[in-house]
Amino acid sequence: MSHALEAISISKSYPADGGRVQILRDLNFHADDNEFVAFVGPSGCGKSTLFNIITGLLQPDDGNILIDNEETTGTTSERVGYVLQKDLLFPWRTVIENVVLGLEIRGVRRREAYERAREMLRIYRMEGYEDKYPSQISGGMKQRVALMRTMITDPQIILMDESYKALDYPLKIALEGELLEVVRRERKTVIFITHDIEEAVTLADRIYVMKARPGEIINEIRVDLGTDSPLIPERRMSRNFNDYYDLIWKNIGIAPVL
Ligand SMILES: Nc1ncnc2c1ncn2[C@@H]1O[C@H](COP(=O)(O)OP(=O)(O)O)[C@@H](O)[C@H]1O
Ligand SMILES: [Mg+2]
Repeated sequence: MSHALEAISISKSYPADGGRVQILRDLNFHADDNEFVAFVGPSGCGKSTLFNIITGLLQPDDGNILIDNEETTGTTSERVGYVLQKDLLFPWRTVIENVVLGLEIRGVRRREAYERAREMLRIYRMEGYEDKYPSQISGGMKQRVALMRTMITDPQIILMDESYKALDYPLKIALEGELLEVVRRERKTVIFITHDIEEAVTLADRIYVMKARPGEIINEIRVDLGTDSPLIPERRMSRNFNDYYDLIWKNIGIAPVL
């Protein structure tokens, strides 16, 4: 069967103390069309390294990344859009200038780019904020702008690295719910990287559980919360939520305090 994204035997090491330290070892995984896949693992297990390999920003030592069966290892594919943990908006650009960035880079005409950006702002209920600067909007809005900036280029696969980490709980829940609605409506494949078990179980159709040193996949879990609702509290209250949570918690265990 062909997958939207497939990773075959990915390994990665970094130089350390004159030798090399193995960060990721023999990772095999995939994501299908319209699927929401989460990677959950402790801090330092290599999640961001993996993210950079999938986006093509980093070359693995070994292994291959295939998108729609096509080799993309070590290259940035236009079919992949990503949202970083820190929103990384350009502070000297207004909200709308940040949103059009991806289109600008792709050489889309200015007029068309701004029309599409205005439409995005309307959909994401941020009309009236076009000309504000990042310093003038809230953390949640910044994260929303970062998502818009990715969505506007219409990638097939969206990668997110702890995108909602620094947000307070109610805001996080609101943005997670929005994310689920948007990616379902736009029929996107999502690969969502997090250290937060609760977040993974709440959002994902399928979860890869990772351990650290070296980073390896130690379990793959298909999640069925018994509801299709995009509302986070409803998903969180699902009867079998805690079973999944427990299972992953037992997989990961309690990390030693470093
Ligand atoms: N460029 C680098 N050079 C050397 N070591 C690195 C580099 N980037 C990350 N590391 C190390 O690799 C490990 C995994 O890091 P990372 O992928 O950021 O993990 P995570 O995102 O799961 O917290 C950590 O021990 C980190 O210190
Ligand atoms: Mg990280």
